[in-house]
Amino acid sequence: MEGSEKEITMKIDGIEVNAVKGTSIYDVAKKLGIKIPTLCHNEALEPFGSCRVCSVEITDKRGRKKIVTSCNYPVFDGLEVETKNEKVFRTRQLLLELLLARCPNAKKIQDLAREYKIERPSLWTGDPEEDCILCGLCTRVCDEKVGVFAINFANRGVEREVTAPYHTISDDCVGCGACAIVCPTDSKKVRVNTYPMLEEDILEAEEQFLNGTRHELLGVYKEIFAAKSSIDGQDGGMATALLLSGFENGLFDAAIVVKRTVGYKAEAIIAESADDILNARGTKYSRVKMMSKIGELVENGKRKIAFVGTPCEIRTGRKIQQQLLSKYPDLNITIVGLFCFEAFDYDNLKAETKKLLGVDLDKAEKTQIQKGKFIVQIDGKEYSAKVKEFHDAIQGGCAYCNDFAGRIADVSVGSVGSSDGYSTVIVRSDTGKRLLENVDYIKGDVNVEDVVKLAKFKKRRADKNFAPIIEGAQNYKEL
Ligand SMILES: Cc1cc2nc3c(=O)[nH]c(=O)nc-3n(C[C@H](O)[C@H](O)[C@H](O)COP(=O)(O)OP(=O)(O)OC[C@H]3O[C@@H](n4cnc5c(N)ncnc54)[C@H](O)[C@@H]3O)c2cc1C
Ligand code: SF4
Ligand code: SF4
Ligand code: FES
Repeated sequence: MEGSEKEITMKIDGIEVNAVKGTSIYDVAKKLGIKIPTLCHNEALEPFGSCRVCSVEITDKRGRKKIVTSCNYPVFDGLEVETKNEKVFRTRQLLLELLLARCPNAKKIQDLAREYKIERPSLWTGDPEEDCILCGLCTRVCDEKVGVFAINFANRGVEREVTAPYHTISDDCVGCGACAIVCPTDSKKVRVNTYPMLEEDILEAEEQFLNGTRHELLGVYKEIFAAKSSIDGQDGGMATALLLSGFENGLFDAAIVVKRTVGYKAEAIIAESADDILNARGTKYSRVKMMSKIGELVENGKRKIAFVGTPCEIRTGRKIQQQLLSKYPDLNITIVGLFCFEAFDYDNLKAETKKLLGVDLDKAEKTQIQKGKFIVQIDGKEYSAKVKEFHDAIQGGCAYCNDFAGRIADVSVGSVGSSDGYSTVIVRSDTGKRLLENVDYIKGDVNVEDVVKLAKFKKRRADKNFAPIIEGAQNYKEL
């Protein structure tokens, strides 16, 4: 307890306790081992108070009684709380009856309703498949923690639902899976145009698209080596060489690549010629909106597509591919993945580059991350500072991404693990192997341990960030 002036005395179910003023009733009760049901409260997130199943009855100093939501009601001196009386039971029972009427087949709601003696709802719902209680946990975790805000509520009344903006493929979702982890009912709604990829989803995609030997951190692969192509790319130019090989040999007729537009600003473009692919070489260290381009291409009749992307883009791209395959069984998507520890927001990176290096990022001929430094090359001169100093410019979502090596791409390419001027290449599927067959390249030595080290580091960061969210979800997922 932080200083006795904040300490108050209150009663819960007749037990006198001391607590810190302002703590929620729910937290005080939990410490005492008193169980209160919750559905919309995850301790890793700001309390919201939408489901009301945590209702309790309070009596204030003047003897006034009322029902309040315990997850967001702050305790004060002299407060008395009843968590188990008849009125509390009836209140929760009524709320659960309404929730069961909305989601009659959601197991979590059925189980909780049964505890309150409700076997079936007396009201009828329009959609027996409805499984979202509109608690908002998914939208809040995506916004508050992941920092992406890829989903929100749309529509009103009975039409209200959680979805990506405009009900179209989300360009912002990083596939981290946090929304699926927090959802109390494991609702399908978190998958409407967003693409949470949990470990089981990654394993399924590996099974479906890749073949080779499985490494815990690098994923499934057939081969890993260092290579240098004849293309003057970011490192060994292998990403561009692989894309050119696929395009020229008919594996795909359109590729989504990332090109600089104005200054250092970058955007995803659809390349339909070898020149388009060549003109997009070089790394732009920011995440761009890319996934809607897949939808665009498919709608325009394309069935052989490629894209190059960071691990978050690969995850979401694979999920989109899986979903589209049921409608377009002839759809073929080739994925060239890039290693990525983190990406930066363009505006913030520009501001930080000015502040830390004193130069205009828009004038950069090339940018590189090497040996922990962010290097900007302008007029042949290099300016650099430690990457960690650019912390404020890191894009939302990166801290919740646990994949460095692009585990579910057909082939992944990066710089770590090989010498200057070489790319590290990980071939993961028969498609990846076919891409490589037509590329002229020189092989070099690869240091696999260096790649593993970064993959481990990135996973550890994500695991650490996910831990409180997972722990918070256990409170309401385990009855
Ligand atoms: C945000 C980001 C962070 C990265 N961090 C690391 C790292 O920590 N360690 C590491 O070893 N490698 C990292 N890489 C990969 C590395 O910088 C090179 O892209 C990779 O080695 C390929 O080099 P190359 O010479 O084969 O590529 P090139 O032949 O020059 O081709 C690069 C390809 O990448 C595409 N591209 C460029 N920028 C983006 C982007 N923002 N999003 C999607 N596609 C893009 C281009 O369209 C082009 O097709 C990162 C890449 C990105 C985009
Ligand atoms: S999808 Fe799940 S987490 Fe999101 S609002 Fe619905 S029930 Fe809550
Ligand atoms: S997977 Fe992650 S980024 Fe995508 S909607 Fe869910 S929480 Fe947001
Ligand atoms: S209102 Fe408290 S858990 Fe939902």
